[in-house]
Amino acid sequence: MRYSEELVEEVRTRNDIVDVVAGYVRLQKRGSNHWGLCPFHNEKSPSFSVSGPKQMYYCFGCGAGGNVYTFLMNYENMSFPEAIKVLADRAGVQLPEVEDGPETGQRENKRTRLLEVNKEAAKFFYYQLRTPRGTIGYQYLQKRELSDETMHKFGLGYAGKNGEELVQYLRGKGFEDELIKEAGLASHTERQGLTSQFWNRVMFPIQDINHRVIGFGGRVMGDGTPKYLNSPETPVFDKRRNLYGLNFARTARCGNIILCEGYMDVIAMHQAGFTQAVASLGTAFTPEQANLLRRYTENVLLAYDSDGAGVKAALRGIGILRDAGLAGKVINMQPYKDPDEFMKALGKEAFQERIDNAENSFFFEIRILEGQFDMNDPEEKTKFHREIAKKLCEFSEDVERDNYLQAIADKYLIGIENLRKLVNSYASQTGLAKPLERPRTGVHQKSSPEENAKKSQRLLVTWLTDEPALYGKIKKYISPEDFTEDIYRRVAERLFQDLEEENFQPAGIISMFEDENEQREVAALFNTSLPQLTTGQEREKAFHDILFAVKKNSYEYYTGQLGTDVNALKQAVEGKKALEELAKTHISLD
Ligand code: GTP
Ligand code: MN
Repeated sequence: MRYSEELVEEVRTRNDIVDVVAGYVRLQKRGSNHWGLCPFHNEKSPSFSVSGPKQMYYCFGCGAGGNVYTFLMNYENMSFPEAIKVLADRAGVQLPEVEDGPETGQRENKRTRLLEVNKEAAKFFYYQLRTPRGTIGYQYLQKRELSDETMHKFGLGYAGKNGEELVQYLRGKGFEDELIKEAGLASHTERQGLTSQFWNRVMFPIQDINHRVIGFGGRVMGDGTPKYLNSPETPVFDKRRNLYGLNFARTARCGNIILCEGYMDVIAMHQAGFTQAVASLGTAFTPEQANLLRRYTENVLLAYDSDGAGVKAALRGIGILRDAGLAGKVINMQPYKDPDEFMKALGKEAFQERIDNAENSFFFEIRILEGQFDMNDPEEKTKFHREIAKKLCEFSEDVERDNYLQAIADKYLIGIENLRKLVNSYASQTGLAKPLERPRTGVHQKSSPEENAKKSQRLLVTWLTDEPALYGKIKKYISPEDFTEDIYRRVAERLFQDLEEENFQPAGIISMFEDENEQREVAALFNTSLPQLTTGQEREKAFHDILFAVKKNSYEYYTGQLGTDVNALKQAVEGKKALEELAKTHISLD
């Protein structure tokens, strides 16, 4: 899919980023920027900035950044074609009919139709629940202590005993049999033709983060099997990449997300005010889901069933969270089976206490491990200690591993030096981790010369973005080649060209990059914190220093490339000249 660059720019410039973001994040104006709590990481004080003049957002806390397209793509999980459609609609710009290959159009169309048929089916189930024939489902949910408000919030419904009604309803709405089948809503039987897949079940519509119905879970009334029947995977229902309840949980902002096993658990938690609860979709928790969660929190609390299967699932989940770089904790549900039952029996204050006392996931793993050995038998006990040592080797960071080593040695009364030796011996045997060294103390990491060079380049770009008029004064000293980082150079090429033509749109430059990480990096380039200086003299000196540093780095870079890069000699010679001239030149900022 390719729209022309002009059209992409037109749609972008017709949607003020401050207005668009304000639809999602509460913003306050301070200086030339608007500020709010970053929607891409968890924070208590605002480091998320949206700039009207630059038409960009940037978070000084987590580095998220980009233009209005980037924002929608990240916040709403949209593809670029989806984002441009939404923004074009919003601004009343007519997009040409998709001029890409027929498959893309068909694929998008199929997705849209599947979402539509799901939405209609959800409506159908919703109304059924509230008719006399749905009473049995309604009473079931009441018995499970769900309020009308909760049933409404989650769009709960009922699939009746007559399997043909749904199909008739959907046909009446203009959906073809093929589509109804592909959505997993109905299937063919010899006797009755196309009939509903869900039959005499209370229905849980499963929504993506944009509240679109992507599939269903249906629970049998009473004890039948299967207890839960879920929609099959479809082009819109990817069970690995969605989580039940995340459409609400993502804005809960309580510093953590609680991962449960079941839909009913999520609903009971939300009803009790724990709106940060989510669950996987009838399948095990996946790495893709962990990545999804990482957008909203760093802390995930597991509220899995307290039975053997639940513990096993928790151990798996912990590993997945750890691989995703998330801190996991485990909530103890004893003596109850799951959050739903816990909440009914002990209530929300008691649950909050369990949240506060959730167990560090590593301690949880070790505690479960302990249960497999007889601590009265020295042989067994030694085995336990060896297993601990093996697990400690999984921490690749020395400090972290040593901290855990100390904590575990304390907790299980193991001699710390003995445990350390054991860990070292496993580490060198398996190559899993480097042998433990004592944590280095007091060594402050100095930033590398490359980092410093990049920093000056960022400062220069940001300064020029804020004061484009300076370009005229420095253009004889500087060229895109002075930006030694690939992405920076590509940005500088475009930036200088735009400044030359006096048509400078930094947010448009971001659209040159498709990769999300590159967009971030480019946004950072335009949003580096400039030194806060008051006097004109200080500012002039700071600017001069930055320019000089960029030039000096470039000179050193090309000198280092002499003999390998044909361009290097010219760059080095010119660089030297420019440096000498700069050294005795005063650049006024007025
Ligand atoms: P309730 O008995 O309604 O409270 O269910 P629960 O939430 O306690 O369910 P349970 O712990 O039995 O299962 C947790 C989750 O696993 C459910 O929400 C479903 O997503 C899934 N699940 C349970 N039973 C089945 C089943 O028979 N088939 C499938 N595909 N998924 C199931
Ligand atoms: Mn349950």
